[in-house]
This record gives sequence, structure tokens and C-alpha cells, in this order.
Amino acid sequence: METPPPGSRERAVAVVDLWAVRANTRALLAAARRAAPGAELMAVVKADGYGHGAAPVAREAVAAGAAVLGVATPGEAVQLRDAGIAAPVVAWLWVPGEDLRPALAAGVQLTVSSTQQLAALLDQAGAAAGGGPVPVHVKVDTGLGRGGVAPAALPELLAAVTAARLAGRVEVVGLMSHLANGEVPEDPSVADQLAVWDRARRAVRAAGLAPRWEHLANTGATLVHPATVGTLVRCGIGLYGLDPVPPGGGERQHPVALRPAMTLRAAVALVKRVPAGHGVSYGWTYRTTRETTLALVPLGYADGIPRAASNRAQVWLAGRRRTVAGQVAMDQFVVDCGDDPVAAGDEVLLFGPGDRGEPTASEWAVACGTIDYEIVTRVGPRVPRRHVSGSDRGAHRTEQGGRW
Ligand SMILES: Cc1ncc(COP(=O)(O)O)c(C=O)c1O
Repeated sequence: METPPPGSRERAVAVVDLWAVRANTRALLAAARRAAPGAELMAVVKADGYGHGAAPVAREAVAAGAAVLGVATPGEAVQLRDAGIAAPVVAWLWVPGEDLRPALAAGVQLTVSSTQQLAALLDQAGAAAGGGPVPVHVKVDTGLGRGGVAPAALPELLAAVTAARLAGRVEVVGLMSHLANGEVPEDPSVADQLAVWDRARRAVRAAGLAPRWEHLANTGATLVHPATVGTLVRCGIGLYGLDPVPPGGGERQHPVALRPAMTLRAAVALVKRVPAGHGVSYGWTYRTTRETTLALVPLGYADGIPRAASNRAQVWLAGRRRTVAGQVAMDQFVVDCGDDPVAAGDEVLLFGPGDRGEPTASEWAVACGTIDYEIVTRVGPRVPRRHVSGSDRGAHRTEQGGRW
């Protein structure tokens, strides 16, 4: 995206610190390798890199040592290829009958969770460019109760996969499962899922398969359940610097410090003085208690600001934190600044790493009754993403309460 000319002001921008993505990737890879020497890392960049921009994040993560990229849909995988990214890519959510040819032609690795999915994949595999065996990951449900083959149906799927392999149609490069509570230290469900996982691994070997990648752990499990780290960890949220592990007694429960990569900021669109008793925004759920200055922030739920932030979440503006006043609307919300000096054009920080006093996405999540995954992922397409790294990181920081 083009940088706007000097002196011009943007309504809003999500600044993405690629240096942080790089540092987080390295830290997570090191954590995985402490648990299992030689482990590799899959950078999960689905949903446009959790809102951070899939291709720039993928490039940065690969440069920092990620061996594989992970996305949900085959279409997302093809977009990475179209962006010139050649690293192995796995896509794990597709429907039988979907046109897989672009993904197969691009060498995308697909998961198979049923014999029906395998048949659908083989139907199209012959037509795809190359014609060699399709790299697949067998996906097993070890207890999450979502995707993956049920353990009872695994033998049937393995028989079909083995037949396809012997016919030269597929190559089994991975065995995959997903945890329900990977980010919760000492959660007993993790041991239960691990037991099912170990049985699945043995069944896969007994079928004569030896996948290079056995992957179960997400970010949280990589940080607090070392036994789940196989030969590959699938890390998403941690790459973006958000820690999914709840602090215990206010303390981080593992040694890995992650740095939030996204800063969401806007420019104040308008300020005005209003008298005491003035209602603010739809439904007047906020009313001024004295004569005061209201500042209009030009971001709303169309930009991914949850309506649940109304009267709850905080922003950093004019040197301090201030709570959203009244309902968040589609395109805008209001902040009550009292008698503090605030002007149109002033910088508002919604969330970021917290360096300048601004809240983090995790704090927004608590205020809105959701998780920080949702806060960053839902930042909408009207908000440009600006990727910074190295020397230009500083250029995108202004002084507290400064104009930009
Ligand atoms: C199958 C799968 N693996 C890995 C991840 C990454 O998880 P996290 O972002 O918690 O690291 C996700 C994300 O939801 C996922 O759906």
C-alpha cells in the first residue's frame, strides 16, 4: 500500500510491526525446540493473517524460520502463491465438490478428514497440473469435536489413504489434530487428547505411513504443554504478539515474552463543547455530567470495532486513557475529554503494544467480552494496513497525543 504524502492525514490505519512478527516467530520456534529438539513451526496466516495481512506476515515468518504456512481455505493458500510465496502451505477447511484445481496446481497441501473428502480430492487430482501424488495431511479428531476424522473411523480412512498412496495418487506428509484447551496450563483435557493422539500416531505407522509432520500444538500448547509439541507446531495468535495463556495470579505462566504487532489508530475527526446533560450517540446511553469536550473518532463497527465496546473499552487520546462514550455506531464513536485540550486531527490509539499507555487488544477483548483473536481479526477492509519494520518503525510513532 502506498504511503500517503507527508503532511496528509489518514482517517485510520492499522500499523503492523513486522519486526515484532519476526521476534515472536523466533521466540515460539525456540519454545517448540526446547520441548522437542528439531521441531518446526507452521505460521498460521489464515483470515488475512488474523487481520495483519497474510502475505507480509507469511514472508516475515518464513524469514524468521517458519517451515510451513497454514490457512483455513484452499483459496487463502492460492492467494499466498499469487503473492509469490513458495513455502509449503497447508489448507484444512474445504468441502467435497469445491474446485480444488487452483490449489492442487499450486502444490497446496490439503487435509483429509473422511473417505468422502479423499475421494473428492482424488477426483480432481488427476486434472491438476503436475499429476504427481498430492501431499495430504490426515486430520484426526482427538476430542475437540470439530474437524478431523473420528478415531473410530480412522482405520477406514487410513486404508483408503494407503491404497491411494500405493497407487501413487497421494503422499502423506502430515498427521494433524487440534486441541480444545491448549492454552490452559494443566488442563486435564490435554492429556486425554494426547492419549488419543498417540493411538492415532501408532495406527498411522502401523499402516506403513511415516509423515514428516505430526502437529497438534497451537500457540498456547507450544507455550505451556511441551508434551504436545510433535515435529511441527501450528502457531497463529502468538506470531501476532498476543498471548493466549491466561496469566496466573497476574503473572505470565511461561517464559516467552511476545510483542503485539498491530497498533490501531485514528485521527480525531471533530471536537466540540457541549453542555452538561447532553446525550451522546444512539439511544443516549451516555450523558455528559458537566460542560465538556467531545471528540469524534472515525471508526465504527463496520471497521471491526465491536458494538460491545460501547461505554466499556478505552482509547489513548491527549495523554490519557478515556472510555468510549455511548454506543459505537457503524462508522464512528465518541470520547468524552472533559476540559483537556484536544483538537481535530489528534491521534487516537485504540490498541497497540501498550508502550505509550494505550490499551492492548487483549484489554479490548476483556472490555468487550471476547478474545483478542477476534479484536484484531475483525479490523475491517476500510482500514489500511501499514507494514513497518526496521528503521521505518520509528517513523510511524508520534509523541503522546501528537498530531499526525
Ligand atoms: C486448526 C488450527 N490450528 C492452529 C491454529 C492456531 O491457533 P493459535 O492462533 O491459538 O496459535 C488454529 C487457529 O484457530 C487452527 O484453527
